Amino acid sequence: MSTIPQGLPPVAELVDGRPDQDQAGLSHLVEGDELDLSHNVILYLEGITVSFDGFKALNKLALTIDAGELRCIIGPNGAGKTTMMDVITGKTRPDRGKAFFGQTLDLTRMSEPEIAHAGIGRKFQKPTIFENHSVFDNLELAMKIDKRVRRSLFSAIDDETRDRIADTLTQIRLQDAADRPAGLLSHGQKQWLEIGMLLMQDPRLLLLDEPVAGMTDDETARTGELFKSLAGKHSLVVVEHDMAFIEQLGGTVTVLHEGSVLAEGDLATVQNDQRVIEVYLGR
Ligand SMILES: Nc1ncnc2c1ncn2[C@@H]1O[C@H](COP(=O)(O)OP(=O)(O)OP(=O)(O)O)[C@@H](O)[C@H]1O
Ligand SMILES: [Mg+2]
Repeated sequence: MSTIPQGLPPVAELVDGRPDQDQAGLSHLVEGDELDLSHNVILYLEGITVSFDGFKALNKLALTIDAGELRCIIGPNGAGKTTMMDVITGKTRPDRGKAFFGQTLDLTRMSEPEIAHAGIGRKFQKPTIFENHSVFDNLELAMKIDKRVRRSLFSAIDDETRDRIADTLTQIRLQDAADRPAGLLSHGQKQWLEIGMLLMQDPRLLLLDEPVAGMTDDETARTGELFKSLAGKHSLVVVEHDMAFIEQLGGTVTVLHEGSVLAEGDLATVQNDQRVIEVYLGR
C-alpha cells in the first residue's frame, strides 16, 4: 500500500486500526445512533451563502431532499453545484445559512470526518481507488476504514463481510472482476468500484458529482440503473450535465444558477422553463 488515495484517512490512522471514534465531539454520533428522519427529510439547506473574495458562489441557497429520494442537480458551469456539495460535506463552511442532516444533525457544526461518519458519502470525479489491489480488496478495505466500525485492518475477514462484498460486487457489476487489480479496470468500472467502496460504508446520503463524465453510453445507462436501484434505501444527490442520463434517472430536477435555485420540478417542467433555457439549456 504505497499510495493512499485522496479522501481516505492517513496511513497512521489506517494501520492503527482504531479510527478516531473516541475523539471528543463524536459522542453524539456513536454507532447505533439513528438519524432522525421524522419529517421524511434527510437534507435541509436554507439561506446558504458562501463568498470567495466577495463573490457569492452560493447565494441564499435552499434545498430539501426527502429520505430515499434521487435528486438531480443541473446548471451552468460555476453555478455552485460542487460548492454546495463542499458545504454539505463540511469541506467549506457557509458564511450563513442552515444545513441539517435529518432533523437534528447541524452540518455547519460538524467536521468532515464527523459528517462522513454520520452517513454522508461523497464521490469525486476522479476515482480514488487502490490501483495495485484487487477489486475485492478495495471493497474490503473500504469497509475496514469505516469509522463507525471498530475493526483492525489486519483482522481476518468474516462471512458477513464476505457476503456484503459479494452483494456489492453484483450491484456494481464487477462480480467477474473481483480478483483483477483495480488499475486494470475501464474508466467506467473504476467509477463503479468507487461507488461500491462508498456503499460498503452504507451511507444514508450519497453525493455524486458528475458520475458519468467520460463513460461510454452503455456504462452511463448501467450507472443509471444502479442509481435507480439504490434510491429508496439510500438518498442520492446527483450533479450532472448529461441530460439523457438525467432523463433516465427520472427524479426531481433542481436547476442552480448563480448560487441559487432557479427552477425545480420534473425534467419536462424545467426543460420548458424559459429562464432555464436562457441560462443553461439553450446555450
Ligand atoms: N475555493 C475557491 N476559491 C475561489 N472561488 C471558488 C472556489 N471554489 C469555487 N469557486 C468559484 O465559485 C463558483 C462556483 O463554483 P462551483 O465549482 O461550485 O461550480 P459548479 O456549478 O460545480 O460548476 P461546474 O459545472 O463547472 O463543475 C465558480 O465561479 C468558482 O470559480
Ligand atoms: Mg462542479
